[in-house]
Amino acid sequence: MRIDIISIFPKMFSAVLDESIIKRAQKKGKVKIFVHDLRDYALDRHRKVDDRPFGGGSGMVIQVEPIFRAIQAIKKKIKGKSKVILLCPQGKKFSQERARKLSKCKNLIFVCGRYEGVDERVRLYLVDEEISIGDYILTGGELAAMVVVDSLVRLIPGVLGDKNSLNFESFEGNLLEYPQYSRPSQFKNWPVPEVLVSGAHDKIQAWRKLESLKRTRQRRPDLLK
Ligand SMILES: C[S@@+](CC[C@H](N)C(=O)[O-])C[C@H]1O[C@@H](n2cnc3c(N)ncnc32)[C@H](O)[C@@H]1O
Repeated sequence: MRIDIISIFPKMFSAVLDESIIKRAQKKGKVKIFVHDLRDYALDRHRKVDDRPFGGGSGMVIQVEPIFRAIQAIKKKIKGKSKVILLCPQGKKFSQERARKLSKCKNLIFVCGRYEGVDERVRLYLVDEEISIGDYILTGGELAAMVVVDSLVRLIPGVLGDKNSLNFESFEGNLLEYPQYSRPSQFKNWPVPEVLVSGAHDKIQAWRKLESLKRTRQRRPDLLK
């Protein structure tokens, strides 16, 4: 998979993309990630990419032209189809299901807004999907893009060492994951469920299934519907 990200703060991404599983995924050749500075596609020598909103009002709007130029330049480098995604609080809310769908794409281009957002023509003419990571407002789309990229890259086959960890995690089969414990089994007076240290595989599986259901019913009954 190839991922391109367009932002006016490209340096923000290294903290996430150059660490841990995403870094390894790139090293293994499972994903190639390119971060582009939107200012490289500005029209003037001041590298300006924003302007005041028509009709007045507060703040600045990211202009359509630099985004158009950036997307065009990226598409020229890409082989095959690509999906352009705008990070936007007004978009459809992100979910594990959506992450799974995106993890199957060949080429993804993410556009990060800033300030008051992007010129509406970006949405209307340049973007295939809009993604919101929740009902709150961030200062820019960069953190949202990192959330989306992190969650979809770990779903690309071969990225996680143990593929079973994907099968049994929260939101798979509309359930939350069962509780997890690790060594030491004795700490203060905080017990570990006996079944987990019993070595009885069938009983452990049954316990996990039950706990998973209980937890989902208590915390996220909406998933069971
Ligand atoms: C301050 S926000 C603009 C909010 C916009 N004025 C509005 O009221 O809908 C600036 C940029 O941050 C990003 N952003 C903010 N909140 C987001 C969210 N919940 N999900 C995804 N992107 C978000 C978007 O790229 C947006 O263009």
